[in-house]
Amino acid sequence: MVELLPQYPILNVPLINGSLLIAGVAIVHVVIAHFAVGIGAFNAVHEWRANRKGDAVMLEFLRRNSRFIILFPFIAGTVTGVGIWFSIALVAPRVTSELIHLFVWGWATEWSLFIIEIAAGYVYYFTWDRVSPRVHNALGWIYAIAAFGSLVLINGIISFMLTTGKFTGIDSFWQNLFNPSFWPSTPIRAVSAFALAGIFVIIVVNYSRGFTQEERAHVVRAAGKWLIPLVLMPPLAVWFFRVIPPDARGFIFNQSAMVMVLLFSFGVVASILLGGYAFFGILRGGRYVTGETGLLMLAIAFIATGSMEFVREGIRKPYLVRPSLVAGGPEGIYSTQLTPGELRQTEAEGTLARAHWWPDATSSTDPATRGRVVYLIQCSACHTANGAYNPIKPLVGGWDEQQYAANLTNLHATKDAMPHYSPTERDRKDLEAYLRTLNPPPATTPAPAAVEDAGQPTPTPRAPSPTPRRGNRTRH
Ligand code: HEC
Repeated sequence: MVELLPQYPILNVPLINGSLLIAGVAIVHVVIAHFAVGIGAFNAVHEWRANRKGDAVMLEFLRRNSRFIILFPFIAGTVTGVGIWFSIALVAPRVTSELIHLFVWGWATEWSLFIIEIAAGYVYYFTWDRVSPRVHNALGWIYAIAAFGSLVLINGIISFMLTTGKFTGIDSFWQNLFNPSFWPSTPIRAVSAFALAGIFVIIVVNYSRGFTQEERAHVVRAAGKWLIPLVLMPPLAVWFFRVIPPDARGFIFNQSAMVMVLLFSFGVVASILLGGYAFFGILRGGRYVTGETGLLMLAIAFIATGSMEFVREGIRKPYLVRPSLVAGGPEGIYSTQLTPGELRQTEAEGTLARAHWWPDATSSTDPATRGRVVYLIQCSACHTANGAYNPIKPLVGGWDEQQYAANLTNLHATKDAMPHYSPTERDRKDLEAYLRTLNPPPATTPAPAAVEDAGQPTPTPRAPSPTPRRGNRTRH
């Protein structure tokens, strides 16, 4: 039972590919959004404690920096969040739409929480000293809880893409949301959120005026505590890798995916180092942390968060949404935005049957022109033709006709990050014609211009050969 529609045009992002475009926007957003969640909790907890203990320094710090610790995160989070919606809707419209439908009430709840968060944040910011401390602190808690709720919901949807679990359809809402990797990834995100908040507070207190050195040290110590949960990262990471599908796990730990191993290790090691420094250096050792050190810690946290997100996205290949674990359940969606059923259909009917967006190319008599469309639909999600991201040009560089014939029908056999795809004879030849244009043969081409150029200025002693030497340049 294959549904052929909806079909969307393909955004071919040169050089970096759509996936790096999304990653670039997403990593900035993820860091800011986690920080917004963490700082909400920091603010609520420390206002509450300061009220109870009469901690005037902390209260003054929170009041004076409300602009940075309440307004800034949600404005920056909103702007980059819109950036994510733009980039995913352009690069992966099919899956974006699919996830909106699947989790429609989840999104509705998330957007409501977001409005509550924004409203509470503004009221909080404008009501210092205008409402009682209790009411003011309650506003801070509303902000914190709404922000954390958003994190939980969005993490449910994102983790679902990796571990669909026993997904049976649109009705299994709670099961979809609380999927296997939701449980470990929620505390992982909470720990990162708290750490980012702690680091940011350290930076802000260093650069805000009107505090003595002791007062600053007092705030730095409070902030340092928020980094200590980072030491939980290794056990949480182990838990995470126990729940993800074995083939995805193989992606990290087998040799061909060294980049994944390095990035992943970096994320975990950076977390331990930051957490360890907070505990032994700041709290036990009583060290002060300067603004520069804070910025350095932020840079490390940024790269560590980016690495972990990159791994999480990378191990899902060749899928965007992995198939259900239930036999007969939904079959997932590949990175190409085709379901396995649709891919089989292109193997039967040809890819161009799905290429409604390129009427000129599909009716072209030039195989390479048609082949480019096959490439855009079947390959461009994970490759660039000749860019920085997984370029296909060097991968097919030395191929001769036999290799094209054997490899293009069997791509998944060389790298299991690729969908199981056996093109029709015509698609394969079209694709081959296009891929050959990426590595044009050296200038033995008997094109008229080339012959003239070579012949006129310096006649060589070698006899010019009128026939091309390469036998495999036949065009189909
Ligand atoms: C879901 C993502 C994905 C899709 C779709 C995809 N590839 Fe790949 N492909 C990869 C990855 C990842 C690699 C591994 C790159 C590496 O090892 O450097 C790869 C490697 C390759 C290689 C090298 C294989 C080898 O032996 O090392 C070739 C050739 C290739 N792809 C061609 C294609 C063609 C042609 C298509 C379209 C029909 C395609 N790919 C579609 C992800 C994909």
